[in-house]
Amino acid sequence: METRGEKNFIRMPMFSARRYDRLTNNTGVNSSFSKMAGYVAARFTEGRLLDVGIGPGRLLQELQEQIPGMELHGLDISASMLKIARDRLGEEVELKRGNICASGYPDDYFDCVVCSGSFYNWDKPVDGLNEIYRILKPGEKAILFETTRDYDPEMLNINLQNNLKGYGQFRKLLSILFLKKQMKLTYSTAEYNQLVLQSKFRDGYSIVRDVLGSLPIYVRIELVK
Ligand SMILES: C[S@@+](CC[C@H](N)C(=O)[O-])C[C@H]1O[C@@H](n2cnc3c(N)ncnc32)[C@H](O)[C@@H]1O
Repeated sequence: METRGEKNFIRMPMFSARRYDRLTNNTGVNSSFSKMAGYVAARFTEGRLLDVGIGPGRLLQELQEQIPGMELHGLDISASMLKIARDRLGEEVELKRGNICASGYPDDYFDCVVCSGSFYNWDKPVDGLNEIYRILKPGEKAILFETTRDYDPEMLNINLQNNLKGYGQFRKLLSILFLKKQMKLTYSTAEYNQLVLQSKFRDGYSIVRDVLGSLPIYVRIELVK
């Protein structure tokens, strides 16, 4: 099977991970992590939380600030991303290298699982969802913040240009190319719906449109065990 990107992340060299970190470190993306963490903080104040596909760890960093009472864990398939996240987060967050399809965490272990912009890269998305189902405590929730292919390109362009105001032309171009690549690979809302319906979460989920970092290109997928 063609990989959706997992293979590239497994082999990702350090310089690519650092470039990803730099390119996604802009006003819009940073405010989106703050909003995601705020959404989680309004629902959870304690317990054990896992972020899946943490990348450079910026959502976990926001969660550290906004929910100091939670025990935070992060999983990623890329050693380079984990290295950057470790430097950013310090030793208090439990980080682990692995694939969400076979995470190795115990059954019924987490009070909350979150994920931002990683799901569309998983080669076996339904297996990943079923693994999240296994490691979530009964009655608890996973919250996935993902881009969707159903968006208005004109609105995206206007808001993206606003977010990148003040950055140099080269940086702007790279950020736009990077997002375009992501948007080609990401699922449509109907496809997300189909994937969840094939998983163990089929009886308890919602998918709603969301605006993050002023970009109207997101869905929030909430899955209840
Ligand atoms: C586009 S990045 C998003 C990173 C971060 N969540 C963010 O919002 O910036 C996708 C991340 O998911 C990780 N990833 C991809 N497939 C994975 C899998 N099957 N299991 C765990 N992590 C995975 C990649 O290594 C990468 O760090």
